[in-house]
Amino acid sequence: MSNGWNESAAAWIAEMGDLGDFGRRFVLDEPMMALARRRAFASALDVGCGEGRFCRMLQPLGIRTIGVDPTEALVAHARAQDPGGDYRIGTAEHLDFEDQSFDLVVSYLSLIDIAQLDTALSQMTRVLRPGGSLLIANLTGFTTAGMVFGGRRPRGADKHAGYLDEHASLVRWGDISIRNWHRPLEAYMKGLLEIGLQLRHFSEPRPYGGPDEKVRRYLKAPYFLIMEWVKPGPAGPARA
Ligand SMILES: C[S@@+](CC[C@H](N)C(=O)[O-])C[C@H]1O[C@@H](n2cnc3c(N)ncnc32)[C@H](O)[C@@H]1O
Repeated sequence: MSNGWNESAAAWIAEMGDLGDFGRRFVLDEPMMALARRRAFASALDVGCGEGRFCRMLQPLGIRTIGVDPTEALVAHARAQDPGGDYRIGTAEHLDFEDQSFDLVVSYLSLIDIAQLDTALSQMTRVLRPGGSLLIANLTGFTTAGMVFGGRRPRGADKHAGYLDEHASLVRWGDISIRNWHRPLEAYMKGLLEIGLQLRHFSEPRPYGGPDEKVRRYLKAPYFLIMEWVKPGPAGPARA
C-alpha cells in the first residue's frame, strides 16, 4: 500500500519552501540546531530526510551529511537543491551503511512515517558510532492519536481514542495525503531504552517566532518533542 508520499511530494515541497513550515521554522529548527552544535559531529545521517532541508542546515557546521529517504520525488528535489550533497533512496528499516559509520543520526519528524519502528531504531543505532547521538524530533502521541490535521474529525469522535494502541491513519491537508503512524510515547521510549541508548536531552520546545495566531494555537496544544539519545561509548569532543 502506498504511503502517499510520492503523490504528495510536489505539494509538500511547495509547503516547505526553503525555510520550512511554521513548526520547523519557528519551533524545531533552533533547538535541533543547538543540539547539533553542542558536539563536534563530523558526519551525520538524516533518516527520512525528505527534500533535504536539515542536511543543508547541518553542512555549514562542517558536518558531512548523507540524507536517506524512500520518496524518489523528494530525493530528486534534494539533489537539485544541493548538487554536491549526498542523498540516497532508502528506508530506515534497511540502512545500507557499515556499522558505526556516523557521529550523528537524525530523525526529523520521520519516526511517525516509519512502519517498522523497532527495526528502524535498531538500524539507526547500528550505524551510529559509540558516543554518537541519535537526535529525534517527533510529534507527541496525543497529537498523532487523533490526527486529522486539515480534515474534519467525525462529529463526536474521541480525540484521543486508542492512544495506547499503535495504528496508522491517513492524514490529509491541502494536496497532501499521507499515512502516519500513531504510537504512544511508551512505544518510542521502550524501543530506545531496550536498544541500550541513553537519554541526554528531552524537551517540549516553545515557538520562538511566527504569526501570533499560530503561536497561540501551538501554545494551547503543543505537538512536538525533541530527544537526544547517546550510544554508550567515549563521547566525542564538545564543539570548541
Ligand atoms: C514528515 S516528512 C519529514 C521530512 C524531513 N525530515 C523534514 O523534516 O522536512 C517524513 C519523511 O519520511 C519519509 N519516510 C517515509 N517512510 C520512510 C521509511 N520507511 N524510512 C525512512 N523515511 C521514510 C517520507 O518520504 C518523508 O520524506
